[in-house]
Amino acid sequence: MEKKDDYDYGTIKEVGKASYEALLHGKGLVKAGAGLLGIAEAVEGYIKDRGFELAFPVNISINQSAAHYTPTFDDRSVVPENGLVKLDVGARKGHYLGDCAITVDLSGNYGKLVEASQIALETAIGMVRAGRKVNEIGREIERVARSAGFVPIRNLGGHGVEQHELHADVFIPNYDNGDTTELEEGQVIAIEPFITNGEGLVREGEIVEIFQKTGDAAVRSGETRSVSAFVEENYLTYPFAGRWLNREMKGLSDFAIRRALAELSHAGALETFPVLVEKKGGMVAQSEKEMIVEKDSCTVITT
Ligand code: CO
Repeated sequence: MEKKDDYDYGTIKEVGKASYEALLHGKGLVKAGAGLLGIAEAVEGYIKDRGFELAFPVNISINQSAAHYTPTFDDRSVVPENGLVKLDVGARKGHYLGDCAITVDLSGNYGKLVEASQIALETAIGMVRAGRKVNEIGREIERVARSAGFVPIRNLGGHGVEQHELHADVFIPNYDNGDTTELEEGQVIAIEPFITNGEGLVREGEIVEIFQKTGDAAVRSGETRSVSAFVEENYLTYPFAGRWLNREMKGLSDFAIRRALAELSHAGALETFPVLVEKKGGMVAQSEKEMIVEKDSCTVITT
């Protein structure tokens, strides 16, 4: 493989393995009635106990929810009896980022949907090589989804994974969007087919619990300034959960934390990641793996 000199492929492989092991650990915890907060904290603790940081908060998105749900510090919600549960997990070491996801079907009714996302992912992985056009991958993902009687979600997709940046440069669509950008040898990417029995689009929901520092802003409140400084020092420019602040900024009330986060996002210093929900209320399955693009194939690292 032609490698980028400044890129440590050993570390990204370590991060991929840790992410995948944490994902499997989390999968074992997804049972009807289990608290979402407990699952998220257990998976995040598992990653930290192994000496890694988090690339982003553990996402536990259920049924029509496709992505970006992470529990609040006082979350009482539980895995529903017949839940279709997406777990999306990423470890981090330095600036090397992991990203992988699976779907657990507790109902037994969505086996075909989950299977379609898995087959779409495996089909896509089989196509990855240097020079492969991203729209060709998207076309196959859509073909697999449709042949199973479903549609892909068109406004979500895979992505390049660079140091410092989880959703970098190349976008790998879940349908043929006409983008003929070619994958490059040595590039690290994540492919994530989202498949639904709905419309094939997600919209932003009301809930926001994931944030990311994107800049600085002059804010008056001392509490807001201390939240901003804490985020910068501890979470750097990676996505974080509001609940992490509740746990780690001991002196601050939940009210003060929420007010600070609102003020910072209003001032343009924070990006927010609202929960993403299928537009027509369709059920959503997701499968995701991360890999290194090779000359004639790829090496999956979240394994
Ligand atoms: Co991803």
